[in-house]
Amino acid sequence: MNDDRTALRERIREANDIVDVVGSYLSLRPAGPTFKALCPFHEDKHPSLVVDPRKQSYKCWACGEWGDVFTFVQKMDHVEFPEALRTLAQRAGISLEKNQKISAGPSKAGMLDVMKWAAARYQSCLLDAPSAEVARDYLGERQLNLGMIRQFGLGYAPDAWEWLVQGALKEKISLDLLEQVGLIAKRNEQKGHYDRFRDRVMFPIRDVQGRTVGFGGRILPSSVVSADRPPPKYYNSAETAIFSKSDQLYGIDLAKQAAAKTGYLAIVEGYTDVIMAHQHGIAQVVATMGTALNERHIKQLKRIVPRVVLVFDADAGGDTGVDRALEVFVKNDLDLRIATLPEGLDPCDLLVAKGPEPFRAALEGAVDVFEYKLQHAWAKHGARGVDGQRQAAEELLGILALTPNERSVKLALMVNRIAQRLLIKEDLIWARLKELRAKRAGSASDRTAPRETPHNPPAEAEAQAAPAETKAGPAPLHERELLELLLAEPALVPRAAVEIAEDEMEHPGLRKVIEALYRLHASGQPADLDHLQGIIDNEKLWQSMRDLAQKGLDYPDRPGVFQKVLERFRERKTLRRKLAIKNQMQDAAPADALELLKKLRDHQ
Ligand code: UTP
Ligand code: MN
Repeated sequence: MNDDRTALRERIREANDIVDVVGSYLSLRPAGPTFKALCPFHEDKHPSLVVDPRKQSYKCWACGEWGDVFTFVQKMDHVEFPEALRTLAQRAGISLEKNQKISAGPSKAGMLDVMKWAAARYQSCLLDAPSAEVARDYLGERQLNLGMIRQFGLGYAPDAWEWLVQGALKEKISLDLLEQVGLIAKRNEQKGHYDRFRDRVMFPIRDVQGRTVGFGGRILPSSVVSADRPPPKYYNSAETAIFSKSDQLYGIDLAKQAAAKTGYLAIVEGYTDVIMAHQHGIAQVVATMGTALNERHIKQLKRIVPRVVLVFDADAGGDTGVDRALEVFVKNDLDLRIATLPEGLDPCDLLVAKGPEPFRAALEGAVDVFEYKLQHAWAKHGARGVDGQRQAAEELLGILALTPNERSVKLALMVNRIAQRLLIKEDLIWARLKELRAKRAGSASDRTAPRETPHNPPAEAEAQAAPAETKAGPAPLHERELLELLLAEPALVPRAAVEIAEDEMEHPGLRKVIEALYRLHASGQPADLDHLQGIIDNEKLWQSMRDLAQKGLDYPDRPGVFQKVLERFRERKTLRRKLAIKNQMQDAAPADALELLKKLRDHQ
């Protein structure tokens, strides 16, 4: 018996290649004989998880997690071994027991089974049933083609009360499970079950591995509805252990490969936006399900890409959506950008009306969210001189004050940018930020005794000598120049490695290249373009590296420019150090802080 079990386990192991299994959760990229991914078990910034097909194992060299296919599924799905075994058996088409029926208890695997069954049934109805003509016509009018209907597994639930129930009875599918996942409901003890989705187009919602975990059912324009209580446009299946609407990213299973190539994922609002983007060859697109981007989304996204582009309508400037996004950005280490679409069009409409180019252009022209907010605040208030500047600063500081960490370098850099752009002294901004925090803490914890805060808004604008205009959004000039130099003249790499730490690079893309160059150098290999090619498997990035190298070759005086770039990095470092010290002075009274600050400056 025990031997049987061992044999079965080994059979299941052999049938599930570790690369396929890990690759169904994370996006992998080849690295020699192994594969690499961002480690899902810790906050990973660089791909530290190594998947080794020869050993059929994975290991994270940063956090130390390791194991085989079974432990991987256990950890990712948060299940015990037997459940992981079931999942992998199912994946490989191996049955665990003889004559196994889909009737087991409320296990995740059971729920996934009935979801899969239902999705197939809804789809065959949509494609073949005469009663589904109305749905086929509707999707045709929306210009969704058959390829997409199949790829996204769209279906139709006919206008009947027991269509799914009867099908389940015939095929011995557990009604309990169908009820649990919210596809059917109980009338009462005597009369049995009825279908919850009737006369609706069914959108299967799939997890990152492509397993159907829920459904959104869209009403049809032709549906007969009561005028005083119109039903919602979309019904959703139940929230269960396998489906949580606010965690879900629609389309993630189909987008993750494209995202690994483009280096980012775009987030839109609706199912139809995602599908239409795919139909136009833009596959790095997912949707949140009618909820704002939250921390759990971010966690999933960070496993796949370092950059996220939020797609908003043209009128989103004043939208709380942008403020929320900015908050998320401030709290997380993520390159978050905003893409704006022409007024009044959602991505689906835009794509249907104008084809892929305007949408693609909007994605590629996306602006860093902080910069976006800064520009909008400035556009809104800037014309009103000093008052306007103060108002714009207030808007930004209101959001920065929500961040939990008072001492992050990121916050310091943002304060610095506000100061430069709105021409306000940094110390005034810090003081105001401290006030806002205090106010927030006061109103949150102690409503009865509002704290008296000295009102000291950053009123006077003081023209500061803006340092050599660093380009906003894209890479700062000195970072780009550094790469141009290093790529043109690899002999400069050792010196750079001593003078400039990787994390001094603000631009995440360029930081990656610097890291790669330093790694090459540290391992005794030439840090040149040829060797870089072995590391960078992104065609586009590689192309832009070559362009940068070409620019570097055009410099008449490379050592001279290199000196200037080093100087600029030193300035930035000093600035960051100062800001960090100021951050530590947050707890001092503003007046004292100013004193300390003056001293600090005098000493430098
Ligand atoms: P939209 O109304 O933009 O939906 O809502 P859509 O997918 O673009 O649909 P079409 O183009 O009108 O057919 C955006 C998202 O909000 C959620 C869905 O996830 C939807 O895709 N939503 C919306 C609901 O869950 N229920 C609703 O009643 C409406
Ligand atoms: Mn829409």
